[in-house]
Amino acid sequence: MHLNRTALVTGAAQGVGLTTATLLAQQGYRVILTDLQPLDTPLAALRAAGHTVAGLSGDVSAEAFVQTLAAYVAEHHGALDVLVNNAGISCILPAEDTTAEQWQRVMNVNLLGPFLLCKYLGGQMLQRRLGSIVNVASIAGLRGVSHRSAYNASKHGLIGLTHTLAAEWGGRGVRVNAVCPGWIKTEMDEADQGPGNYSDADIMNRVPMARFASPQDVAAAIAYLADPTVSGFINGVSLPVDGGWLADASWDTLRLRTREA
Ligand SMILES: NC(=O)c1ccc[n+]([C@@H]2O[C@H](COP(=O)([O-])OP(=O)(O)OC[C@H]3O[C@@H](n4cnc5c(N)ncnc54)[C@H](O)[C@@H]3O)[C@@H](O)[C@H]2O)c1
Repeated sequence: MHLNRTALVTGAAQGVGLTTATLLAQQGYRVILTDLQPLDTPLAALRAAGHTVAGLSGDVSAEAFVQTLAAYVAEHHGALDVLVNNAGISCILPAEDTTAEQWQRVMNVNLLGPFLLCKYLGGQMLQRRLGSIVNVASIAGLRGVSHRSAYNASKHGLIGLTHTLAAEWGGRGVRVNAVCPGWIKTEMDEADQGPGNYSDADIMNRVPMARFASPQDVAAAIAYLADPTVSGFINGVSLPVDGGWLADASWDTLRLRTREA
């Protein structure tokens, strides 16, 4: 149990963020949830389950909001033990149809936001020379996937930020790692599939383990990287949580034939 340890999770109103906040709370962390959306419902559910949680709503890409978060953490906890940069948005469009505004919004939420959280809340960790930051990237941060130029570039950038801060802060007690999930069954996936972009079968056929990631699969990997007792010398990794997607260079018919065996 992680008593007396504080974690903050961005994008915690639903999906991977809410599942991660719930898992960390079950492990004994005090958890601060943040999201653009109201947090009353998840906060009430977590409190009813006996967990110590707080919530602040705002935009992670707004420097003033991140400064408000940092002031709250300084006043109540001194510094975080764990920061999970999970908030993110997708954008599925051919590159030639992506507007500068769409590109910039994705960069602001998926890359500027985590940078600001690291700068202000990681800065507090540095003063205590203790902490773990986990950035939620994607396999799209390690490979190209068509029709996702802004999203993929933002996640590649987030992995670059992870590498850089691991190098810059590792010697001062702050570890910085990333998880790289494959496709996860969340509201984001439902919204992305809606316009007929792809189907469940497209994803399951591509994954050696023949299924989507669950939010719990990703939350468990985040909790592992957060915990210095089990991952204390792991710094700067981009951990795939993808059922083997990145490892598999088989062509589709060969992969599907392996399932018949
Ligand atoms: N769903 C997938 O298939 C998948 C795959 C790989 C990586 N990811 C990444 O995992 C993370 C979580 O994704 P999810 O599937 O749970 O998505 P989701 O859309 O279900 O949840 C994302 C949450 O982030 C919040 N959010 C969005 N913009 C914000 C902002 N500017 N400030 C604060 N909060 C904001 C949303 O309100 C929402 O609650 C994202 O970074 C996403 O890119 C998702």
